[in-house]
Amino acid sequence: MTAIADQTGTAVSAALSTVDANIAEFGDRYPADTTTNDRYPPRPANRGWTTSFWPGMLWLAHDLSGDETYRKAATSHVRSFVDRMDGGVDLDTHDLGFLYTLSCVTAWRRNRDPEAKRAALAAADHLLTRVLPSAGIIQAWGDLADPRQQGRTIVDSLMNTPLLFWASRATGDPRYAAAARRHTTQLRDHLIREDDTTYHTFYWDPATGAPLRGETEQGSADESCWARGQAWGIYGFTLNHQYTGDPTLLAAAIRCADYFLARLPADGVAYWDLIFTEGSTEERDSSAAAIAVNGLLELAAVVPPALGERYRAAAGTILASLIDGYSTVRRPDSNALLLHGVYDKPKNVGVNEGNLWGDYFYLEALTRVTLPGWKHPW
Ligand code: GLY
Repeated sequence: MTAIADQTGTAVSAALSTVDANIAEFGDRYPADTTTNDRYPPRPANRGWTTSFWPGMLWLAHDLSGDETYRKAATSHVRSFVDRMDGGVDLDTHDLGFLYTLSCVTAWRRNRDPEAKRAALAAADHLLTRVLPSAGIIQAWGDLADPRQQGRTIVDSLMNTPLLFWASRATGDPRYAAAARRHTTQLRDHLIREDDTTYHTFYWDPATGAPLRGETEQGSADESCWARGQAWGIYGFTLNHQYTGDPTLLAAAIRCADYFLARLPADGVAYWDLIFTEGSTEERDSSAAAIAVNGLLELAAVVPPALGERYRAAAGTILASLIDGYSTVRRPDSNALLLHGVYDKPKNVGVNEGNLWGDYFYLEALTRVTLPGWKHPW
């Protein structure tokens, strides 16, 4: 075994021990979005955009170990997502893609559970109601009548379109995929700036569909480059390219990747906004790094070999650094897998804490390097 394989094996064992303890600790409930002092408290109900990362991790644990305990635990969460959809609980969000891909699409694919399929298709239908016809974009947040949110979408939404592509394949109805394509094309044309940085959020005029302006919500400034947004761009454009074969989406993913890599500090783990570089006293966002590792590894498979090698090497360096300096391999007191993430620095939420999506994408990255040929759930 090489040193990196040793390091990965240790990291997988530590992560699975934490997942085991969290199955016992949380039962049918969900950890909060982020840790508080490095530990997740339970959240009161299945609300918010991050709950599916927990069953997502359980499915990864099943892949890594073959242990049926994880399949059973992941499957046991389907009911909660079905109830959430049927009850109309906290659905005013584009994040239905994150929520229902990892919980219900995966349960349908693996267990052929018809209730999981029904809920996932209902989520895709609900996502279609968020399309603003004049612009062809999917409204990211809030009530469709809220003037502050109308016509606004965000870079993260690139990870929500796989639900729509799946829905078209599952039903034979092309409307879902067509909406996803149009939305992604708009993001490609307006969220990426000339210098290959990305806006976090962007507005279109709801009446005319004309592109208006970029704004940030979680980045340092409207014109800065929020690190996690850039990482969502790497992985999200890559996935959308996989579904469409559109070479311009591949080019968009490469632009996001090259800028992200050019802004990394020496240990390869990005600061929470890419305006900060080596020597800054700002916090890192380990979750941006974990998302980028997956995006880079996926992207590496479809670009020319020399570029692919560069992306694979960068992903390996970042992952090794995450294991070594940011994971809980040597922190059994924490119930997170990955620490030192930033949820929302401007609002001082989840700063220098673990978070559920960071844990999920860290474990996805470990799964990729442990199981060659593994297929992602997106
Ligand atoms: N999708 C929300 C975030 O990345 O914070």
